[in-house]
Amino acid sequence: MIKLLVDNKEIETKAGTTLLQACLDNSIYIPNLCFLEGMENPPASCRMCFVEIKGENRPVTSCNIEVTDGMVVKTDTTAVRRLQRTAFELLLSVHHVDCRPCPANKKCDLQHIAKFIKIGLKPKRLDHYLKDTEIEQAHPFLDYYPNRCILCGKCIHVCQIRHDKALIAFAKRGFNTEITFNGEDDKSLLYCKSCIACVEICPVGALAIRHNTKNPNLDKPEITNYKHQITNKFQITISKSQIRSKTNCLEF
Ligand code: SF4
Ligand code: SF4
Ligand code: FES
Repeated sequence: MIKLLVDNKEIETKAGTTLLQACLDNSIYIPNLCFLEGMENPPASCRMCFVEIKGENRPVTSCNIEVTDGMVVKTDTTAVRRLQRTAFELLLSVHHVDCRPCPANKKCDLQHIAKFIKIGLKPKRLDHYLKDTEIEQAHPFLDYYPNRCILCGKCIHVCQIRHDKALIAFAKRGFNTEITFNGEDDKSLLYCKSCIACVEICPVGALAIRHNTKNPNLDKPEITNYKHQITNKFQITISKSQIRSKTNCLEF
């Protein structure tokens, strides 16, 4: 076992564990949006999971660093919070914040993180840009909201795990990057009807089952188990920036 000190608390974990995972397993919450347990190569794209490690001259992302014995880590320094707030503001600068009608309202990771790092969901420091298309309905029964998508890639990851070959991929470039379903044909419809793992894993409200879809379904028990299998350890109850306990739901 590896021992390390995080925020003056000694924790133990297995060799090969990422620093982010080790902290979450020990009820030390670090904001994160693009990481899932078991990812071989975490994309480290959301830039939220910064920590300071003794000996490093600048904060580093914790999702793509393995723990080492004797590591000394701080998760709540001024530099860490500054970087997290900047990354978060950038995400929000291309995000349509309209929570009331959003299916993710009250269980959205953006809402949780905003509260945790004490920042509003409509920061004014950066200009705000939105894509022209508010909703894409190319899929037979799933709606995609490009202006809600934070491009975390979790939907692609779970689709890949579930079907060996992901039916979802990133498309386009730069500001126009979005996710797309590969071949909205009978074959993908067949897979999706018994799945929706992508909808379940989306940390925001970017993927949703179309309202007028009559029972697309949806093997709910299996999906729920699948979600728990993948996300259980990330579901943490946070209150006033304090970790209280680990449960199966994120709540404030
Ligand atoms: S994704 Fe989250 S922050 Fe964005 S509109 Fe939906 S609930 Fe609000
Ligand atoms: S649709 Fe959801 S899970 Fe997929 S990349 Fe966008 S935010 Fe992430
Ligand atoms: S969780 Fe580490 S960069 Fe996204």
